[in-house]
Amino acid sequence: MAITKTRIIDGKKTAASLLEELKVKTAALAKKKIQPGLAVVLVGEDPASQVYVRSKRRTCADLGIQSFSHDLPANCTEKRLLNLIDKLNEDERVHGILVQMPLPDRLNEKRVLEAIRPEKDVDGFHPVNVGRLLNGEEGFVPCTPAGCLVLMQRYGIRPEGKHVVIVGRSNIVGKPLAALLIQKADNANATVTICHSRTRSIARYTREADILIAAMGVPEFIKPRMVREGAVVIDVGVNRIPDATKKSGTRLVGDVAFAGVSKKAKAITPVPGGVGPMTIAMLMSNTIRAAELAGR
Ligand SMILES: NC(=O)c1ccc[n+]([C@@H]2O[C@H](COP(=O)([O-])OP(=O)(O)OC[C@H]3O[C@@H](n4cnc5c(N)ncnc54)[C@H](OP(=O)(O)O)[C@@H]3O)[C@@H](O)[C@H]2O)c1
Repeated sequence: MAITKTRIIDGKKTAASLLEELKVKTAALAKKKIQPGLAVVLVGEDPASQVYVRSKRRTCADLGIQSFSHDLPANCTEKRLLNLIDKLNEDERVHGILVQMPLPDRLNEKRVLEAIRPEKDVDGFHPVNVGRLLNGEEGFVPCTPAGCLVLMQRYGIRPEGKHVVIVGRSNIVGKPLAALLIQKADNANATVTICHSRTRSIARYTREADILIAAMGVPEFIKPRMVREGAVVIDVGVNRIPDATKKSGTRLVGDVAFAGVSKKAKAITPVPGGVGPMTIAMLMSNTIRAAELAGR
């Protein structure tokens, strides 16, 4: 049966309303003389990282979150970075610490992430928070997976009892998403399959998905023939591809071939304007929660 009207899951709009709700929380904290603080650490001059960091700092300002900017040169030593993290761990004005990834190859990401105190780890990458997530305990959840869940929730898409197929098993998206969706909890209780680059005949799995989540970083990999009619499709991918018709010479696409897949899906996130804006909103949400917890 052909889908009559596909629902576009608007992440920009959802993130904007989430940010409005967060303003109420920062105002409530302000009454208690608490201003949430987020330290954003950038090492080097990767242009994409600079864009992300600027946008995080701007959103902090909009919400009344104090942002502390620490831009370190690409050749900075690991010791200098770890010393900075130590200082931020001790600084009471700083409730959340974010080190923008990827780091230059010389620096050990694992050591850097583990240096952040779990209660300030608003990215949710510290092993303590990863463990809490797996155990179904309270902790900080990585922003992109958390954003995907909030997006589904706000569009009335319930994963309970559904078959969710995730393509991608990274520590920042695929694995935490699976951990969230298998929880015995509201807005979870899904049956989850994870595919990756060694999965044979991926389409065999993706076609079985009630909810298909693509988080691979391969432009328009998910084709219409790989998607079941009436599935919900969440596209986490952000890929820049050449486009001679654009002034910049490039454009952003997801991991899903949107034009064709949107004709089969019941609901789908676009790129840009889908999962991306939710990631920043969830970072703000985690920072405010860290401030609330610290102020108890
Ligand atoms: N919207 C946002 O806010 C946001 C946030 C984070 C990431 N992203 C985007 O999401 C995408 C994924 O990010 P990531 O950090 O998770 O990437 P990643 O660390 O590179 O992981 C990619 C995953 O996809 C799998 N994969 C790659 N090519 C595949 C193929 N041909 N067939 C099947 N599986 C394949 C890889 O499998 P193996 O494990 O076997 O290598 C890996 O598990 C990227 O486009 C990134 O820009 C967006």
